[in-house]
Amino acid sequence: MCGIIGYIGDKKTSDILIDGLKRLEYRGYDSCGIAVINGVGGLYLKRVSGRVDALDALAASDPVKGARAGIGHTRWATHGAPSEDNAHPHTDCSGSVVVVHNGIIENYLELKEILLKAGHKFKSETDTEVIVHLLEEKLKNLDVAEKNARQAMLEPVFFEAVRRTIADLKGAFALAAAWAKCPAILLAARQHSPLVAGLGEGENFIASDVSAFLKHTKRVVFLNDGEIAAVKKEGVTFFDFKGRKLERESIVIQWDSTMAEKGGYKHFMLKEIHEQPEAVEDTLRGRLLPISGELLEREINLPLELIKKFKRLQVIACGTAYHAGLVARYVFENFGMPTEVDFASEFSDRAKITDKDTLVIAISQSGETADTLHASREAKVSGAKVLAITNTVGSTLTREADFVLYTHCGPEIGVASTKAFMGQLAAVYLLGVHFATARKKLALAEARTYAEELLKLPRLAEELFLSEKSIAAMAGACAGSEHFLFIARHINFPIALEGALKIKEISYVHAEGYAAGEMKHGPIAIIDKGMPVLAVATTSKAISLMAGNIEEAKARGARVIAIVDEDSRKLIKAADYIQVPKTMELLSPMLNVIPLQLFAYYVALAKKCDIDKPRNLAKSVTVR
Ligand code: G6P
Repeated sequence: MCGIIGYIGDKKTSDILIDGLKRLEYRGYDSCGIAVINGVGGLYLKRVSGRVDALDALAASDPVKGARAGIGHTRWATHGAPSEDNAHPHTDCSGSVVVVHNGIIENYLELKEILLKAGHKFKSETDTEVIVHLLEEKLKNLDVAEKNARQAMLEPVFFEAVRRTIADLKGAFALAAAWAKCPAILLAARQHSPLVAGLGEGENFIASDVSAFLKHTKRVVFLNDGEIAAVKKEGVTFFDFKGRKLERESIVIQWDSTMAEKGGYKHFMLKEIHEQPEAVEDTLRGRLLPISGELLEREINLPLELIKKFKRLQVIACGTAYHAGLVARYVFENFGMPTEVDFASEFSDRAKITDKDTLVIAISQSGETADTLHASREAKVSGAKVLAITNTVGSTLTREADFVLYTHCGPEIGVASTKAFMGQLAAVYLLGVHFATARKKLALAEARTYAEELLKLPRLAEELFLSEKSIAAMAGACAGSEHFLFIARHINFPIALEGALKIKEISYVHAEGYAAGEMKHGPIAIIDKGMPVLAVATTSKAISLMAGNIEEAKARGARVIAIVDEDSRKLIKAADYIQVPKTMELLSPMLNVIPLQLFAYYVALAKKCDIDKPRNLAKSVTVR
């Protein structure tokens, strides 16, 4: 998830771009840059590793005058570390074409190979750079027109080159391109990543979202997948990918800029809960072998020999990432791999049984959590190899770990983690299936079945949001309770823990997650009349035991809210139900956690808590 902006008009372009990037920083902030067309043929390019303030200072020290068009980008790294070279905009070999991009180009390695053979020189490690070289190549092929053309005639050439370029791209993209020889037009295209055109008076904009230009215009057109926008000072014209002109109606946005950053949601947490289908899609995108559904080796670079040889897995993590680790244990054990899971803080300073036969998996959204870093350093000293699952390219954990598997969730702003957890689960399943096939514990046909089910999850998660209103009503009705109990069994037990953690984090009430089978050994004593008990009871091997636990809670007066699927609903008697779409038991945590996140959110909303910045908590805990 990165932020892009383009501007064309009479105002000082660099200022407009930089101001827009500041408003887009919530989408990514590890590096940024602008490219401004300075008269025909002139290109002013400024990029920095770091935040937009640094770019602002750099541009102020070397201002550009007279420019009327440009594009800018703030990045959240997916391919290549955060650095100036990897910062956008990227330029072609001639230095006259520039591109900014948000998304993931799945076939970039294939394209890069072709372009390298054709003599293109690459300056970054990004997937984006292939787009600009491809565009250069397409422009070369349209050369005849260019030679004969006057300025205005170059525009159709540029358009056709962009159109042909995007026809070769697989994956997700929102991109904007500018060509110094053709300064009166910017071209932008959308496929699975957001893009919106802002229509002003004698000036026009293109951006990842409206917050980037809201103070200049509220009249917008949201691009659909498969659309191109030709942005000129006089107006914006829309086309499909075949080049056919489209009629698009503009709408007037009523949001202020804070609301716009949150995509119209009241809080980042709610927005991020809703971004989970996308987080799963992005974490899976372009990483599975089409035939067997296995994880592509290049995504992890963990030698097959090592995968075959390790005797045990040790997961270390903190907070929500620890719960992803607990799910990982069920997944890996399901495929016959002995797995231990520890809080990183508990793993540290303990007698180590990790050694060269152990593969340690450190899970951390930020890659900067002090306890996780400390524990993974200790694990390395014990002779183990460390594999990091993280959302943050270039973080300390990625530099210190032996191997890295990235989740591609974009920045998470809400302190209570939601979409990062989802990305971690997706990564865990990818690893589980990859290891199991490498160790011959899973036939390729079975691996494929898992992959197919995984790929369905984003759509199923979208379906689940249809129940949001009724979840909000249940949460509102329970918001006065001082105690909440969350129960589940086996692979969903970590989801009960996560549900309870979410409530504690943002509502400051007592909530416990418990293995349902353990209820009789203590927690049942705290149940009294009306106490909310959230029971994860989707179809599983243990469903009849779960039904029994629900009866026990009800008999003590609990108000049971059961998370069920179509089949298990028939077996469960509860006060309220939240029905989730059905998937394989092994994958069910990825759907079951969503209603619990929403429930926690709406309890906190009813209690008027500061949801995105809960008291006493930090997004990243960098002290031990
Ligand atoms: C803090 C955050 C949690 C997060 C945990 C681990 O406690 O508030 O949301 O799960 O740190 O963070 P990490 O970045 O290592 O995943």
